[in-house]
Amino acid sequence: MPAATKDLERKIEKLREKIRHHEYLYYVLDNPEISDADFDKLMQQLKDLETEHPSLVMLDSPTQRVGGKPREGFVKVPHSSPMLSLDNTYNEEELRDWERRVHELSGRSDVDYVCELKLDGMSLALVYEDGRLVRGVTRGDGSVGEDVTLNVRTVRSVPLSIPKERLKKAGIPRDFEVRGELLMPTASFKRINEERERNGLPTFANPRNFTAGTVRQLDSNVTAERRLDYFPYILLQNGRTYFDRHSKTLAALDAAGFKVNQNRKLLRSMDEVWAFIEQWEEKRDSLPYEIDGIVVKVDRTALQDELGFTGKAPRSAIAYKYAARGGVTKLKGIRWQTGRTGKLTPVAELEPIPIGGTTVRNATLHNMDEIRRLGVKIGDWVRVERGGDVIPKVVEVDKDHPRGVTDVEDPEKCPVCGTKVVRTEGEVDYRCVNANCPAKLLGTILHFASRGVMNIDGMGESLVSQLIDRGLAKNVAEIYDLTKKDLLSLERFADKSAQNILDEIENSKKLPLERVIYGLGIRMVGERTAQFLAEHFGSMEELEQAGVEELQNVNEVGPRIAESIVEFFSIPANRKLVDRLGEAGLAFKGKKKERGTKLRGKTFVLTGTLAKHTRDEAKKMIEDAGGKVTGSVSKKTDYVVAGADAGSKLDKAKELGVAVIDEKEMEKLAGQPALSS
Ligand code: IVH
Repeated sequence: MPAATKDLERKIEKLREKIRHHEYLYYVLDNPEISDADFDKLMQQLKDLETEHPSLVMLDSPTQRVGGKPREGFVKVPHSSPMLSLDNTYNEEELRDWERRVHELSGRSDVDYVCELKLDGMSLALVYEDGRLVRGVTRGDGSVGEDVTLNVRTVRSVPLSIPKERLKKAGIPRDFEVRGELLMPTASFKRINEERERNGLPTFANPRNFTAGTVRQLDSNVTAERRLDYFPYILLQNGRTYFDRHSKTLAALDAAGFKVNQNRKLLRSMDEVWAFIEQWEEKRDSLPYEIDGIVVKVDRTALQDELGFTGKAPRSAIAYKYAARGGVTKLKGIRWQTGRTGKLTPVAELEPIPIGGTTVRNATLHNMDEIRRLGVKIGDWVRVERGGDVIPKVVEVDKDHPRGVTDVEDPEKCPVCGTKVVRTEGEVDYRCVNANCPAKLLGTILHFASRGVMNIDGMGESLVSQLIDRGLAKNVAEIYDLTKKDLLSLERFADKSAQNILDEIENSKKLPLERVIYGLGIRMVGERTAQFLAEHFGSMEELEQAGVEELQNVNEVGPRIAESIVEFFSIPANRKLVDRLGEAGLAFKGKKKERGTKLRGKTFVLTGTLAKHTRDEAKKMIEDAGGKVTGSVSKKTDYVVAGADAGSKLDKAKELGVAVIDEKEMEKLAGQPALSS
């Protein structure tokens, strides 16, 4: 290798190390040292260098978290040793019984325990060879799991590689396996579910189901967006526990750079264990993810081996399960609630019941179909459950109580404005179609002000309702006309709190164009679409003027979204609103992502394994040249790019007479100099 290349290689690897370090600070320690912008800059430098020198790209580079070859399904992989589960206990007595058995079977009474949170996700094994992540495998049936490596690589707290020195210092061999819990933080769950709801997609019942669905996604881009997290708690070599104490395992994983859960403790008696359990039952609501109990583990590995197994669970560990936060109460009635999009949701009005530290008075029943599925009648006793800060929901009718007799009726009128509601053929939901319905206004302003949109902290339901009632916010733009005097005239506002809100409002003007677009609440335009629109048009004016055709040139925008956008801007009141937001000084200019025009209007589908490019690179190449990549072949597809082992999409292309090209031709069309392999 020429000296110049060696130097370059060293430079690139140094940059990678730097990025890995900052990823670790951010995603594992939650304690970044540099700003997001500076981090993005480093990442961009690396991407540029790797694009210039594709032969120097390594699989464990921080740029390689997303992408990889397309998947047609998941390959089954045997585990190095069975992935077991845990026996459960539900009260102190059962826990003490377990301890007694541990004492009897081991013949000792001085047993140390490690207590950990029982994270409510799914277990996942990670195999490292020579310090590099080579495989991520789901639990499956315990003996054989599914290879989900491509998706696991997108989880930022999973190290793609660990330097030799670091492993050595941590005392971990170069080839090892880690097992732990993959989960979705409550905030991501809420954010994505809300976005799905807004975009008319089915929502997930809880973060655990969502995690399982996410890690089995065929498209690793989707997994990447959903921000999963991973906490390891087992370290194996050749299928066997490596350290002589569990507490050492956790400390070593910590030292190697894994995100070991910090809420753990080495304890010397069952009384201390019980205190730990009680303490976390109270604090569980303050965690950013869900737990369903505490796991108690015998610390010494030798003792663990001695204790052995019962069926599929080790005798040396036990789960203490917290009672599901729920309860049974009487359903007093159903109230219909109109949301931002006009959708009516049935809310169960309950006899108040304390659940997990708060009094629950209302719970969602989703829609009329759900009411029928549960067979719920007014006057029934129902079981209500609440997870994290997720909205409580009615999960079943408690048939041990006398049944209610009153059927739930379909809604006829919007509960807020009284307009007759409509239900489109084939849809489950009823909608209020009155454009000026105050309930829609409330939802619209709350969406606009929420975190992740215009981020106006403190602008919650009580403030916004008051503003609407007093005629101080007839639309989102009027937020920017609010004065301190206006705010001081409201309940519970003093000089300082009023000033805080005004500062928050002022700060929101600094947010980029994509946030403003997202904040408009255009149907089917979520966070990601807003981002693509901002990048494509670079200004609000250009977006406003775009037609259905032009809009469909935007990444991931199909005819339905394009029409929804055009319809939004065709309404004079909306255009006026946008003008007023512009006058208020919100960001109406962004940075256009310059794209070529060579492939303008052309739609591509990628299939099979490409030899020289990852799927993401190929997609980027086409998009940078102005083209678009979609997932399925139709008559509208211009080209199918087929790599090795192309499957059904290639057949479909042939059937429809769509042009099939290879990677080289794709490069040529995109105007790229063909890369040598
Ligand atoms: S140890 C031998 N520790 O709970 C079994 N499991 O109900 C090893 N879980 O399948 C599991 N948090 O998915 C362990 N701190 C923790 C855990 C934990 C959650 C899950 C895990 C396991 C299930 C058993």
